[in-house]
Amino acid sequence: MTQTRPVESQQAHGGRFAGRVVVITGAGRGIGRELATCFGQEAAAVVVADRDGAAGTRAASELTHTGYDAMFVEVDVSDPGSTVAMAHAVADRYSRIDVLVNNAGITADATLSKMSYEDWRRVLAVNLDGPFLCTKAVLPMMLAAGYGRIINAASIVALYGNFGQSNYTAAKAGLIGMTKTWARELGPKGITVNAVAPGFILTDMAAGVPDSVLDAMRSRNPIGRLGETEDVAEAYLFLASEGARYVNGAVVTVDGGMTL
Ligand code: NAI
Repeated sequence: MTQTRPVESQQAHGGRFAGRVVVITGAGRGIGRELATCFGQEAAAVVVADRDGAAGTRAASELTHTGYDAMFVEVDVSDPGSTVAMAHAVADRYSRIDVLVNNAGITADATLSKMSYEDWRRVLAVNLDGPFLCTKAVLPMMLAAGYGRIINAASIVALYGNFGQSNYTAAKAGLIGMTKTWARELGPKGITVNAVAPGFILTDMAAGVPDSVLDAMRSRNPIGRLGETEDVAEAYLFLASEGARYVNGAVVTVDGGMTL
C-alpha cells in the first residue's frame, strides 16, 4: 500500500471529487488506470484495487508522485474474503468509500463448441461474481453514509452478442441486469448505480485481435477509429459526479456509434 496525503489536504485543491474516496478495481492498467488518473486530477483519493501487485503498486506510486492521494490494495475480485479485506483496508485508511468502479474484467474467448467449462466459470467469476462481491463488500459503508455511486463496466457486446464470447457476453449482460436491480434497491438509500458499455477500446485486453478484424471495426465506426482509454473515462467521471445525481440504472454506451 502506498502512503500519501490525507483526503482533507486534497480538498484544498478543489476538483469535482475533492473529499471523495474512489475505489477502482482493475486499475493497474488499461481503462482502470486511465480512470485512476482522471479521478486523481479531480482531487479524489484513488484506491487502485488489482490482483496484479506489480502493476497496482506502480500505478499507485505514479499517482502519488504526480501529487494525487492514492493507495494500492491487492484484491482478487472473484474471491469473497479478498473483497471484504479490500473494503477493510480502505476503511482503515479513509473511513469511507464514495464511489466504486467495478472495472476489473477478463476474457477467455472461444466459440461455444470449443469453450471449456473452466473458461466459462473463470470469466463469470471475475466479470460477474466480481462486481457482486465488491459491491457487497463496500455497501455497508455506503449505506451508513447514505451516499454512494456504483459504476459497472459492461460492454456493447452484452447488448448485441459477440462471436466467441459466450462467457463474456453472459457476464456483461448479467452485470447490466444487476445494475438495474441495484438501481431500484439502492436508489432510495442515496446510492445510484449505472453502467458504462464501451465499444472497442485499445488496451491489453484487445491485444491479439487480428489486424483484419481491427480494420473492419474501424471502417464500421462512424467516427472512423477505435477507442482510446481517454475516450471512455469522462463517462465514468460523469456518472460518479454530483451532476449525475438523477441518473440511475442507466447503461451509457461509449462506442463512437459503432453499434448504430
Ligand atoms: P485490461 O485487461 O487492460 O485490464 C484489466 C485489469 O483488471 C488488469 O489490471 C487486471 O490485472 C485486472 N484484473 C483482472 N482480473 C482481476 C481480478 N480477478 N481481481 C482484480 N483485478 C483483476 O482491461 P481493459 O480493456 O482496461 O478493460 C477494463 C474493463 O472494461 C473490463 O471490465 C472490460 O471487460 C471492460 N471493457 C473493455 C473493452 C475494451 O475494448 N478494452 C470494451 C468493453 C468493456
